[in-house]
Amino acid sequence: MRNLCEIMQEKGIKQRVKILKILTKGNFVSGQYIADACNISRIAVWKHINHLISKGVKIKTHPNKGYEFISFGNRLIPEIIRLYLGPEKFVKEIVYFDEVDSTNNVAKKILKEGSLIVAEQQKKGKGRSGKIWKSEKYKDILFSLIISPYLPYYYLPIFNIIGALSVALALNKSFKGVKAKVKWPNDVLINGKKISGVLVELFAEVDLIEKLIIGIGVDINSKPKLSNATSLITILKDEKLDRAKLLVQIISELNKLYEMAKRNNLKQIQKIWNKNSLDYKRKVKIVQNGNIITGLSQGIDNCGNLIIRKGRKEISVYPTSSLKII
Ligand code: BTN
Repeated sequence: MRNLCEIMQEKGIKQRVKILKILTKGNFVSGQYIADACNISRIAVWKHINHLISKGVKIKTHPNKGYEFISFGNRLIPEIIRLYLGPEKFVKEIVYFDEVDSTNNVAKKILKEGSLIVAEQQKKGKGRSGKIWKSEKYKDILFSLIISPYLPYYYLPIFNIIGALSVALALNKSFKGVKAKVKWPNDVLINGKKISGVLVELFAEVDLIEKLIIGIGVDINSKPKLSNATSLITILKDEKLDRAKLLVQIISELNKLYEMAKRNNLKQIQKIWNKNSLDYKRKVKIVQNGNIITGLSQGIDNCGNLIIRKGRKEISVYPTSSLKII
């Protein structure tokens, strides 16, 4: 059940989305025009406009002409994400933080299907295998999405696959010349360097995946210090990067892939993964429970496990392992 505060917040977001829609259509719009169109008072319009300005949206006020929209600024606020998302119903609520410990931790407390938790900065961003995920404030993409697939637990690996694939596909569709590839189980790389990672956390019933948190981090305008990491700005140099547009594209790819999984169209996901994978048909080294396995990668099975050929034997590897291309 949503409480009154949440309902009011959601109502405020909806009204500001409407205001943004009006403002982005014309040159100058009067407060009265917006008030009439949204069925609210002029004072309420003024408050909403000030809220948007305080979140980085550039709107000018002209004494006799009204409001003038200049630009969206560079925040991942719910209003801009909603505006870009349009009428789709996959994302039911957007929770935004300027700073938070980890969006996955917030998601764990919310656990409502369709909730999207977005942060500008994480104090304790979590990576896989207990690692830390670092990011720079207002520069990267950090979010967690809660889904409720109710699929048997052995489909769990496919959600790492879906997360990483959605980022790679969104990057490739959004930026000409970018060739993002996925590396099993859930990394996204450009020019061999990591740009994005996915952390999936599970809440299961006896044998069904009840709730899943898909946490995704993408390095956009930051400059990662590690030599094996990269960011979009490092690759595209001085391009103006719209984080909100890319985030919405990632969500849209994720939605499509998730629909495929729910319709049991796992063969199609498998195909898309193998086509976009860096390790497909390459010699790889896997570390699984302290054991090292080397062999030729045969791509993923339809649950998302990696198949490795070693001589005549085929071994199925679960995503708790790490992979190196050799
Ligand atoms: C990895 O490659 O190790 C996975 C990194 C996952 C980072 C994202 S950022 C948003 C979400 N919240 C977290 O604390 N972690 C994930």
